Amino acid sequence: MEELTTARLRLRAFAPGDGEAVHRYAGDPEVCRFVTWGPNSPEDTRAFVAEAVRSAVDDGARDVWTWAVDLDGDLVGTVALSVRSRENARGEMGYVLRRDRWGQGITTEAAEAVLGFALTRAGLARVEATCRPENSGSRRVLEKIGMQYEGLLRSHVVVAGERRDSLLFAAVR
Ligand SMILES: CC(C)(COP(=O)(O)OP(=O)(O)OC[C@H]1O[C@@H](n2cnc3c(N)ncnc32)[C@H](O)[C@@H]1OP(=O)(O)O)[C@@H](O)C(=O)NCCC(=O)NCCS
Repeated sequence: MEELTTARLRLRAFAPGDGEAVHRYAGDPEVCRFVTWGPNSPEDTRAFVAEAVRSAVDDGARDVWTWAVDLDGDLVGTVALSVRSRENARGEMGYVLRRDRWGQGITTEAAEAVLGFALTRAGLARVEATCRPENSGSRRVLEKIGMQYEGLLRSHVVVAGERRDSLLFAAVR
């Protein structure tokens, strides 16, 4: 799987030993407040890492990239890109960061690199991302990397058992 580097970060494939580091954010209820998964049990995290490792070594046509965000050797988050429609060259991006690293521009830096990769080397013509309306940090990340707000998706996802709206953002080549 392609590795990406930015000024401060290395976006690398997951390795089998990453479970504990991932669990520090994936098991944190505050981190999971606005997302459709988690907070993870240790078993959920093990399954996530196993799947990320498996998909990183699969050298067939790639439809999912799951990067570990590595800051000076410390695994602090995940950014994922998935192809939603190969035919229409359309994909989707998502991200999560450990709480003690919020507000340092890390996700902006990582997501910008992934968006650039998506629209060039990955061959996508459109990349979408959604966030909950109250998730102002995530919304700001998407605005800062140049994604455009396209509208409100009503009753779009289930978060902690409740149907929630999403804001749709997209970038096009
Ligand atoms: C959302 C999240 C990824 C933001 O990551 P981050 O690395 O802290 O974001 P950045 O430091 O790059 O900040 C980007 C902008 O958002 C702002 N921001 C970050 N967190 C914020 C918050 N909680 N409230 C308001 N603004 C916030 C920053 O100030 C910055 O804007 P500025 O440059 O205009 O000041 C992180 O908080 C997170 O992992 N949350 C939990 C998981 C999640 O919600 N993922 C997204 C699902 S849609």
